[in-house]
Amino acid sequence: MKKKTIALTLTAMLAVGASIPTAVIAKPIEAGYQEALDQFDQKAIRKIDVDRIYNHIATLSEEPRVAGTDVENRAVDYLREEFESYGYDVAVQPFTYTGYTEPTRIDLNVPGFDQGLNPGNFTYGVSGDVTAGLVDAGIGSPADFERVDAKGKIAVVQRGEFSFADKIVNASEAGAAGVIIYNSGPGALNGTLGGHDDRLIPAVSLSHEQGQALLKHVKANAGSEARIVVEGAKTGEHVSHNVIATKHPTSKKKDTGEVIVIGSHMDSVPGAPGANDNASGTSVTLELARVMKDLPSDTEIRFASFGAEELGLIGSHHYVNELSEEEKDQIIANFNLDMVGSRDAGDLMVASVDGEPNLVTELTHKSSKKLNGEPTTLGRSGSSDHVPFHQAGIPAALFIHSPLEPWYHTPQDTLDKISKEKLLDVAEIVAAAVYDRARFDNQHPKNKKREETPVPKEAFYEQSIR
Ligand code: BES
Ligand code: ZN
Repeated sequence: MKKKTIALTLTAMLAVGASIPTAVIAKPIEAGYQEALDQFDQKAIRKIDVDRIYNHIATLSEEPRVAGTDVENRAVDYLREEFESYGYDVAVQPFTYTGYTEPTRIDLNVPGFDQGLNPGNFTYGVSGDVTAGLVDAGIGSPADFERVDAKGKIAVVQRGEFSFADKIVNASEAGAAGVIIYNSGPGALNGTLGGHDDRLIPAVSLSHEQGQALLKHVKANAGSEARIVVEGAKTGEHVSHNVIATKHPTSKKKDTGEVIVIGSHMDSVPGAPGANDNASGTSVTLELARVMKDLPSDTEIRFASFGAEELGLIGSHHYVNELSEEEKDQIIANFNLDMVGSRDAGDLMVASVDGEPNLVTELTHKSSKKLNGEPTTLGRSGSSDHVPFHQAGIPAALFIHSPLEPWYHTPQDTLDKISKEKLLDVAEIVAAAVYDRARFDNQHPKNKKREETPVPKEAFYEQSIR
């Protein structure tokens, strides 16, 4: 059964958010839809076996597949073996990244100050146990540290104007022993230092309200001291992997030199078995590789499974960065499958980074219209592995159901919430869309000249369609 695609605007989706799970209303196939499918569409979709997809999800989602762990490594082996069993050449591409282990304990104690403080941690913050006098160091600029003597002290600084890391390094270079950074607006402060720096000293965050109250206390009590304890925080090098299976064009003579990448991330966040995020996309990718193996095609198709997406799209950035300019020019499309099987999420959306149509969304428009009678809604989203492709100027889009299910990034993201109907719908739409372009047809509209569109990665983090 195909579900009807409701044409929601992105604004409406943002407003709905992930809090209300949308029930999927089963809708019978209306007579005539499938008649629009030509022989190529039929060829691409007829062998898709949704039970195989479901069984891959069951295998992959037994435990959280956190990047760099043994469980992710086992997923890498599983994917490689599956792809090989379909007859593919498989490349396993290792890469390293700097990982961070959150502290197991974080304390801030100020004798004589009786309001309970709730210190927060900064990602990449260092461990330490520091007892020292407190000093108000403004916003923590070099000028502030010329004005106050912070040597051996704990500097209290306000958020703003420049990065948390720079504030801590400024304090450290002024000889401070620790730092407290408080928010400049309402609410708690969670932040990242962007990476490790040998000059870092123990630092904690406070809300604006608590920071202000603490400074008042320091003013009224000359010589007041504090103790900062950060325990168990660790920064270190880790290894993760991408797995890529390549389907070469069937005949060298008809090779167009073009490449389509169907990709998905294999890792999950800690604590979440990631049945939907993203064993679902990974398993659909596997099944598409299986059914497309022997389809006659004039375009190369790569089936890619990326590691360490949840840590900042690290695997897909690595993959794209390792490509030569010529290789990037050859890639005409990236189909990114991420969260494609939750029974409790909304409708399928095909989302480009800029919300504009591109080759991926256009092929999808066509195939979904033929399959479902209505095209899949076009949306806008970053936050997943299509972003590095987009930044390299390659047409790319994310397949996701929106609004998200309430189990997103929770221990409840498990197999029992997976809908075979949704998996099959996405698998068919993507298979037909890809094969529309990859089949022998002697028709190859020249691609637009690829132009890199580098945008700071961070810009995308705030656009998620929750
Ligand atoms: N599966 C999500 C992607 C996602 C979630 C896209 C919600 C759009 C809306 C992905 O695995 C994820 O969680 N991404 C992170 C950002 C990433 C850069 C670490 C996110 O959205 O917080
Ligand atoms: Zn994901």
